[in-house]
Parts: sequence; C-alpha cells; structure tokens
Amino acid sequence: MRVRPIRDLPHFRDLRAFVRHLDENKLLARVTERVSTVHEMTEIHRRVLACGGPALLFELAGRNDGSKAEMCVLVNLFGTVERVAWGLGVGRRRLGELGELLAALRELEPIDDLRGALQRWPLLKAGFATIPVDVGRPPVQQKVYIGTQIDLGRLPIQICWPDEPAPLITWPLVITRPPGQDRTLDYNMGVYRMQVLGPNRAGVRWLSHRGGAAHHRLWAAEGRDMPVAVVIGADPATMLAAVLPLPEGMSELRFSGILRGERPRLGRCVTVPLMVPADAEIVIEGFVSAKETAPEGPFGDHTGYYNAVEPFPVLRVTAITTREAPIYVSTFTGRPPDEPSIIGEALNELFVPMLRRQIPEVRDCWFPPDACSYRMAIVSIRKRYAGQARRVMMALWGMLVQFSYTKLIIVVDDDIDVRDWRDISWALATRMDPSRDLMVTDRTPIDYLDFASPLAGLGGKLGIDATNKIGSETSRKWGRVLAMDPAVSQHIDALWDRLGLGRSGTFSNSDARGS
Ligand SMILES: Cc1cc2nc3c(=O)[nH]c(=O)nc-3n(C[C@H](O)[C@H](O)[C@H](O)COP(=O)(O)O)c2cc1C
Repeated sequence: MRVRPIRDLPHFRDLRAFVRHLDENKLLARVTERVSTVHEMTEIHRRVLACGGPALLFELAGRNDGSKAEMCVLVNLFGTVERVAWGLGVGRRRLGELGELLAALRELEPIDDLRGALQRWPLLKAGFATIPVDVGRPPVQQKVYIGTQIDLGRLPIQICWPDEPAPLITWPLVITRPPGQDRTLDYNMGVYRMQVLGPNRAGVRWLSHRGGAAHHRLWAAEGRDMPVAVVIGADPATMLAAVLPLPEGMSELRFSGILRGERPRLGRCVTVPLMVPADAEIVIEGFVSAKETAPEGPFGDHTGYYNAVEPFPVLRVTAITTREAPIYVSTFTGRPPDEPSIIGEALNELFVPMLRRQIPEVRDCWFPPDACSYRMAIVSIRKRYAGQARRVMMALWGMLVQFSYTKLIIVVDDDIDVRDWRDISWALATRMDPSRDLMVTDRTPIDYLDFASPLAGLGGKLGIDATNKIGSETSRKWGRVLAMDPAVSQHIDALWDRLGLGRSGTFSNSDARGS
C-alpha cells in the first residue's frame, strides 16, 4: 500500500493559524459593523451559511447588556464541507481516505492497541502523533480569572433564537476523565451545549449516551463532583476530533494529533486536575456537581424545534483562562442547514468505508442533512439474493447506537445514486410495492428528542426495499432498464458539435432526465 501523508494542508497549531489560512484563501469575512449577540448573529450566520459563504469574524460584538464585548466572535467556521475537510487536514476529495483510517482504527482494540496500530496501518504510522507534550506556560493562561474575577458575562455568549431563557455556549469542547489516575488516554472530549445560569454557574447538556455523561455517572457513584475543563476555540483538528465517531474509549484529544500531524500541546489547568490544549483561546475550569441539576432550555435545536425543558447537571466555575485578545467561537443550531448538519455531511463520507467493512454489500450510504443528519438513510447495495435488502436494514439498525435513531431506511440497487432524489424517486416508483416491500417494527429505541415517537425514547422504524426483486421475491416478469446502444451514443458524441445544439460532450442518463 502506498503511504501518503495524512495531511495535505499546512499545520494549524491553533485556531488563529486556521483563521489566517481561511483569510488568505478569501474564506473569511470580517464584520466591522456592530452586531448584537442576541438573535442578530444567528440571522446573519444563517443567511451566509445557507449560500455556502465564508467564516465570519464579528469584530464589534454587542453584548447582551448592550455594551461592546471585549473579544471577537467567530461563527460559520465549518460552514462548508470543504472547510470541515480542511479542518481535518485534507482536501475535500480525500475525506474517504480518512474514513478508511477510522474504519481501521475501529477494528483495533481501543487504547492499548494504538501502538499495534502503528505497525498495522501505514497511513496511521505516517501521521501518528498522539503522545502529548506538556507545555509549562500555556498561552491559554496568559490571562487568568479566579475567585470574584470570574464572570461568564464577560464572554460574548449568544442568545440564538427568540424566547430562549439565557445565553448559550454553543461550541464548548467539554473535557472530562474518569475518577482515579489522571491519564490523558482516558480523557473524553465532546461538544455539549451549556446554558449560562449565573456569573460562575452553567448547565451542561450531555445526552445520556455521551462520553461526558458516562464519566459523570462514575464520579457521582462515588459521591464526588467531577472536574471539567471547557475549551472554547482551539485548532480545527481538536475541535473536529470532539465530534468524530471515534472508537469507544479512544481519547479525542490525543487522536487530534494524528489529524494535526503534530503532538497535542497540553497545559495543566489552574484549578482542576486536567490538561487542556495549550494554544486554545478560552478555557472554563470547574466542577460538575454530583447531585445538583437545573432546568435546561427551551433552546433551538438541530431538529428545527425548541427542546423540551429538562434537568441537566450544573458546573460551578473555578477559573476562566484566556489568551491575550481571545477569539470566542460560536454557532447556532436550528433546522438544517446549520453548522452541525454541514459537519454531519462531511462525517457521512467518513462513515461509508466503515459501513462497507461491516456490511460488504453496501456500496454507498447517505444521511440526508434535511432529515437531521441521522433520522433517514438511503443505502445502495450490490444485491445477490432474495431478502438481502431487509438483512442490510437490520444490520444497519444494530450496528451503532447512532443508527438506532434512523427511523427510515430506503435500500436501493447500486445503479441508483443515493444522493440524488430523482434517482431515489424512480427506484421507489418502479421497484417497490407497499404491500410487499415495507418492513415496519415498533417499540424500538429511538432518539428521545424525537417527539413524534409515541413514547419518549421508544418508537417505530420503517425500512423500504426499493431494490429490483429477484428469486422468490417475485413471480412476475421484472422490467428491463432502458438504455441506448453504446455505439449509437459514441457516434452521436462525435457528431454533437456539428449539430449546433449548444452543449457538447457525452449525454448521460441523468442529462436525459433533464439535469
Ligand atoms: C455545534 C454542536 C453542538 C452539539 N451539541 C450537543 C449537545 O448539546 N449535547 C450532546 O449530547 N451532543 C451535542 N453535539 C454532538 C456531540 O458533541 C457529538 O456527538 C460528539 O461526538 C459526542 O462525543 P462523545 O461520544 O465523546 O460523547 C453537538 C455537536 C456539535 C457540532
């Protein structure tokens, strides 16, 4: 196997290096007009994101009390799939290769086998850089606020949508570890939004299956508050590692070194026993109570609705540390497209190689972003035997916890482009019969945020087999797909320019359908 370096972009040691890179490539817009963090940023961000626009640096952010914020606000950082790929260190075309790397990692024993992974995976070997460097005086501690100096109100935290009850930290990288020895290998880092409850208090909304929630249960079982470090603004590999589907037990913070092509530079927190990215912009340190909870929400969510109010644990802040002139990174979540749905699109491409390893007949798979990135899937397969589409549905639903949230799966043959609704519609219209090709199950685990399910966390699933029927699946003569004689097509290709009909080149099936 040819060893290619994992990265084909420059190294971005910190957020500022990435922002500079975007600026040089005309993918950063500086907004010098005064813009309020209350609703206005969301509205501007929403419009720019919808047309694939640049990252936005608000240089004059108006704070919630009407005064000018002390720092700039950066939004839409990952507002296109290309920028997500760049953040991961590769051009857009190479996302699939990174997916192969992730698929290989999944097949290894977690953590202890990382060293083994070095030998067994040349691509990984080329970029292997997960051993942290302990930075004595981390830049993120250029300013340290403790005791009465702590005030979350100093940060330009957005209120994204009308009727939301409080400012919401939307891009926090929440770092936790289990009780016991402080080993970075055991660290978890996930993005869990945080509602500001006061100058030194915030709620942390980790869903119960998240790594942070699992760590919290371990500390709470010992009756102890859990040390937590919340990073806002870091190099792009660190930010994206926090949302990657890494194998269970693999530390996102350390994995980021593979993507960045540089070992993680970590600094010791001031008030909690944890390490954080030394070159981050802002770190909020504190302890999440073993017992105390506070109602969270309602806030706008990635589904396009307001969430129901629910209790989540409370973080008591013990320090805020920042670089000089820090950049505050923010986003909104709402009906797709929003930034998480764009990231989801990029992650979709990373997922496909893993799927193929687990279910070899799968050719491609697409989670339409408009269906909240995971609630619907279109899967194409190379079909060989009767009943195969149903087997693939069941395999998918059982494969990962995330797939149990996919309430509709449409299976098609591999001549169908899973990303093209015209192709999918044609397959549904011509290869599917509702009395034979639907598989409905009920009372299965489902996203508890899905209020359409009859019970919270328990709902139905629908599988639609839109493949050609073969063997005992049908007793009728099946249709034959229309296709032009290739010799005629070639002849017309050669003749085309002389016909004076405008567009030249080959006339594919999709052209024939009027694209
Ligand atoms: C902008 C953004 C906001 C998110 N907000 C939340 C959230 O509030 N709660 C949550 O559980 N997951 C949220 N997620 C998803 C998780 O961060 C993501 O699934 C992550 O991989 C979870 O990490 P874990 O498996 O280590 O817990 C968010 C993701 C993004 C990109």
